[in-house]
Amino acid sequence: MKFKKIFPFFILLFLCSISILAQNQLVIEADQSRGTINRQIYGHFSEHLGRCIYGGYWVGEESSIPNTRGIRNDVVQALKDIRIPNLRWPGGCFADEYHWMDGIGPRETRPKMINSHWGGVVEDNSFGTHEFLDLCEQLGAEPYISANMGSGTVEEMSKWIEYITFDGESPMAHLRRQNGRDEPWKVRFWGVGNESWGCGGNMRPEYYADLYRHYATYARDYGDNRIYKIACGANGGDYNWTETVMKNAAHHMQGLSLHYYTVPKDWNDKGSATDFDEEEYFNTVEKTLFMDELITKHSLIMDRYDPQKRVGMIIDEWGTWYNVEPGTNPGFLYQQNTMRDAIIAGINLNIFNAHCERVQMANLAQTVNVLQAVLLTDEEKIVLTPTYWVFHLYKVHQDATLLPISFTSNKYRQGDREIDAVSVSASKDTNGKIHITLVNADPKNEQRVNTRLPGASAGKVSGQILTSDKINDYNSFEQPSTVSVKELKGLSFSENTLLVVLPPKSVVLIAIE
Ligand code: AHR
Repeated sequence: MKFKKIFPFFILLFLCSISILAQNQLVIEADQSRGTINRQIYGHFSEHLGRCIYGGYWVGEESSIPNTRGIRNDVVQALKDIRIPNLRWPGGCFADEYHWMDGIGPRETRPKMINSHWGGVVEDNSFGTHEFLDLCEQLGAEPYISANMGSGTVEEMSKWIEYITFDGESPMAHLRRQNGRDEPWKVRFWGVGNESWGCGGNMRPEYYADLYRHYATYARDYGDNRIYKIACGANGGDYNWTETVMKNAAHHMQGLSLHYYTVPKDWNDKGSATDFDEEEYFNTVEKTLFMDELITKHSLIMDRYDPQKRVGMIIDEWGTWYNVEPGTNPGFLYQQNTMRDAIIAGINLNIFNAHCERVQMANLAQTVNVLQAVLLTDEEKIVLTPTYWVFHLYKVHQDATLLPISFTSNKYRQGDREIDAVSVSASKDTNGKIHITLVNADPKNEQRVNTRLPGASAGKVSGQILTSDKINDYNSFEQPSTVSVKELKGLSFSENTLLVVLPPKSVVLIAIE
């Protein structure tokens, strides 16, 4: 009799435990720190490739598209709105064929060249050093220049630095003044060679390390401009490259790069940007999660030669790489950008935040009209992609304190494979406001994240969400707001606990103040 009475209670208890177990458990230590998230992690990369520079930024002073000294106003404003901290230029592979002196002086007399890597088109050099540094000033972003090591010379690189940063009397400072710029610019970030293991010269790491030391010697600090030299790092999982370059040249660098692209299929047929099934979607997310392993393993090698973490890991090319949009120039790398790309961006940025002790910069490839672009343009029209909105949400992490988390995620399964469904990052800004960014990669199931924040003072909570009906939804010139940010309702924070319900395929920002 007695048992009969308490039986329903046991059932209820059982069901409650099941539902709690089904929830993702997140603990955020709100009064502790795991370092500072360098705002440079939210950087971008723009190459002379396809319609990135020409049409993307540069339309020329005579254009009917509103511009300031030839640079599109709409693009500048959109990038300022995501607080773009830095911009890497002029390549990529293009950097190792670029001779900067071709891009200064009166535009009509600048020599033309073939952009042999990217479509074999004519590069008329109308966008050069002055235009790039003007763009950075308009953006309020720090320039990051990749110097030509592949087909250039030490003299060419060192004269470029002198031209840009020297304030006294010298041939290069004189030339700069002749070209209309009196004051030197400040350029901290200099890359010495790009993909020197591939398009930048097909070098072996031993040879590169020696050549790097040679070039780095002549990268001078003028006045108070302190150069942060970035050596060429590995192609994905080439750990021998990191080992050799760190062993032989770590003392001469401030940063070491890493390149890794997320390619859903393989390099011959990378997969469509918009037309993919769930298996291909799963592959894409699984491949992007490899970024965490890459950073961990390269960091372990760097730790052996640089235990103080003086040398930053600079992930200066990352993002998705698909087949080009049908009918477009294969050398222009123009691809659409869907909700899948937003998921990929959110996961990667959470990974970079988590490694902020070593990762000091990252640059998404390639800002406008190329690869995982945040902006697409067509003549006077502009589209903010789903990836753009992720950078919009995540900008709150810039220069914030990374909060330690412990987290066990539910799994997202495909056949007999499984990956974490949820990715998360949390930080506290200088005003004490806590921000949590979460990604639910599972396209079919919602995820409930049971969040405890010991050390947080009770406060106001608000949320924003980026999601869409279909994982391959995108913003087009005709329908530019299919994937856009909305308010996330129904949040409550009490007794340091918060339940966040993440709809399928969503990126969420929670703010607690
Ligand atoms: O981003 C496109 C290309 O990818 C870059 O030029 C090169 O560095 C990389 O291989």
